Amino acid sequence: MLPHESNPISESPGLTSHNLPDKRSKTSMWDHFRASMANRKAAGLHRDVVVSTPISPTRVERNGQVAINFGANDYLGLAWHPTLFAWPKASAASSPEGSEFLRYGSGASPIVTGHTDEHARLVQTIAEFEDTHSAIVYSSGYAANLGVVSALATRNDIIFSDELNHASLIDGCRLSRANVQVYPHGDSQTLRRLVQEHRHRGRFGFVVTDSVFSMDGDLAPLLEIDAICQEFDMHCILDEAHATGVYGHFGRGLAEHIGVSDERMIRIGTLSKAVGCSGGFVAGRNELIEWLVNHSRSWIYSTASPVPNSHIAARAIRLVQNMHTERTALRQNAQRLRLAIAGLGYSVGEGDCPIIPIRFQDPKAVVAASQELLRRGIYVPAIRPPTVPEGKSLLRVSLSVAHSSDDCHSLVEGLRQIKNLP
Ligand SMILES: Cc1ncc(COP(=O)(O)O)c(C=O)c1O
Repeated sequence: MLPHESNPISESPGLTSHNLPDKRSKTSMWDHFRASMANRKAAGLHRDVVVSTPISPTRVERNGQVAINFGANDYLGLAWHPTLFAWPKASAASSPEGSEFLRYGSGASPIVTGHTDEHARLVQTIAEFEDTHSAIVYSSGYAANLGVVSALATRNDIIFSDELNHASLIDGCRLSRANVQVYPHGDSQTLRRLVQEHRHRGRFGFVVTDSVFSMDGDLAPLLEIDAICQEFDMHCILDEAHATGVYGHFGRGLAEHIGVSDERMIRIGTLSKAVGCSGGFVAGRNELIEWLVNHSRSWIYSTASPVPNSHIAARAIRLVQNMHTERTALRQNAQRLRLAIAGLGYSVGEGDCPIIPIRFQDPKAVVAASQELLRRGIYVPAIRPPTVPEGKSLLRVSLSVAHSSDDCHSLVEGLRQIKNLP
């Protein structure tokens, strides 16, 4: 099987053939669930929800254990920024009850009454941040990816999709009903060959890819993808979720970082990770935003994000664009930490991305490693299939500029101690 065949474009992740119920079976749904969950537990693939109590930008309590938190995507420490969370005094003063928050929920879809003055200010701030005409804000990055891909591509079009794309892009491809060709991860040569072979099958053509891959922390070959899009008259739908705030002089993402123009790029940014708030956005020319406002179902048919989120996100974006020093320091720290972990004999890949994958292959081994680290006061999540392909389980370290060098040292020491555990 080619590696890209594991991309579950046509199957639900987690509903692969080994745990689909037999159509003729008389087993009840609940019995099927119980048996399937027991199988998952035995294979080290079961997922539990654990209450996480954040204590500081770098500390979290889980199961009564306080640990250094290497699991959050708060790359610039903004989720804890002391001045971001003050609600405007003017609103508080005009509130009859004198309460700090005039309103929390937006109450309706943005197309009805959910698009408040705070949302409009956020849209304007994002358009300025991205140095473009207009923007649209979704209540989550998942909703943005789902709604953008499925609004732009239709059954008459063709999508070329990286095999390790985020689930939300994969789901957007499915919803679009376009002809989807999956290409091996980051392999621009095979992408080119597939495009040559299949481009004529779709009216509009799209390459869909993460810019920074969320589990492996590696980067899409954007220059090559841009050249392919130019040559074959296509557009790239680029998910910058883990690049917003982290790459580019102003923190716009990887396209800014490596100097790819927006001509062929439809870039989706996030408010949920380095910006420290919640939401996803697209910024670009007026025709694009107008199209999304009229076609993007996850935006139209969903309540706009809470009002305070928009207010805080606009302020956070203004901070992010001036945090060049912090993002440079973050990536330098990430590079150093990667080298130190690789020095212990772990496989971590290369680069300066603050997502550092420590590869274990076996799901049970990675869960054991995560538990051993937690016992030592370090939290690093264990990532297993179907989030990553079979045989590719990993510990995912997510570094923040708020982590101290002592925090990084503790992680390296913890990894050294567990290296030779059975
Ligand atoms: C690459 C990527 N895109 C999109 C998302 C979804 O963003 P959100 O958490 O805001 O829904 C995530 C989050 O996990 C992600 O890692």
